[in-house]
Amino acid sequence: MAARKQIRTAVFPVAGRGTRFLPATKASPKEMLPIVDRPLIQYAVDEALAAGAERLIFITGSSKRAIEDHFDSDAELERLLESQGKTELADQVRSVLPSYATCIYIRQSAPLGLGHAVLCARPAVDDEPFFVHLADDLIVAETPCLKQMAATFEQFGSSVVGVEEVDRRDTDKYGIVEVEDARSTVSRMHGIVEKPKPEQARSTLAVVGRYVLTPTIFAELENISQGAGGEIQLTDGIARLMRSEGVYAHRFSGRRFDCGSKLGYLQATIEMSLAHPVLGKEFRHYLKSVVGRLD
Ligand code: G1P
Repeated sequence: MAARKQIRTAVFPVAGRGTRFLPATKASPKEMLPIVDRPLIQYAVDEALAAGAERLIFITGSSKRAIEDHFDSDAELERLLESQGKTELADQVRSVLPSYATCIYIRQSAPLGLGHAVLCARPAVDDEPFFVHLADDLIVAETPCLKQMAATFEQFGSSVVGVEEVDRRDTDKYGIVEVEDARSTVSRMHGIVEKPKPEQARSTLAVVGRYVLTPTIFAELENISQGAGGEIQLTDGIARLMRSEGVYAHRFSGRRFDCGSKLGYLQATIEMSLAHPVLGKEFRHYLKSVVGRLD
């Protein structure tokens, strides 16, 4: 099989208001919530870059300016840090985005759903496969999740969605898929439904916020009407894509934290603090003392 072109575009739908974190997210984006010292969106961009992306498309909405500022260079801040001898910090500020990466910002004019957000990226994507990354889902993995999925795309040449098993009680929080071979890491999908009730879900294999999509998804999304929750659902577009081109489900290896929920966010913070190269040791010590005080 001829080698496929590297996937060079990543789409980050970041228009959602993050109501679960209000009032913290009243004036600043939920994607800017930090996990230790990096905002969630930085983890997202780093994962996409590690998978080979170089064109980053953010689908934004109101109160999201901080994301643009974060990825813009800040010569004044860099000069200030340099003049104070804080070279390492200046380097960290500079390395927020490598020079080869380009950011494109597209406004989603109304909250019409994830499928609509992806459709907004169409003018900037070209006729190429692309990643979609939902920053709420933080995935810690030896090989970045999107990189694992890019390898699957390379192998099969069809769209790929990242999946993992969830508790049956939680099926109504996810897109739920049915696959041909439930035991294999990668399997062709034959069903996908957005947020089915636990008693109606045909499996407990859930879509996490990682996708490799072929550009055909745009034509499919253009032809769907409102789905679950009255929104244009990406899941419904993928269901059509599954029938027209085929879609694979990939059980990624790694650990996912649902940072769209307060509990998941706290869990991610604790795990990333423990793994932090500078803070880790002291934090572990502190955490042990906390655990010792618990009954
Ligand atoms: C979205 C998708 C859903 C997917 C989930 C992963 O839902 O619609 O299919 O399982 O992301 O996080 P949301 O969490 O935006 O409601």
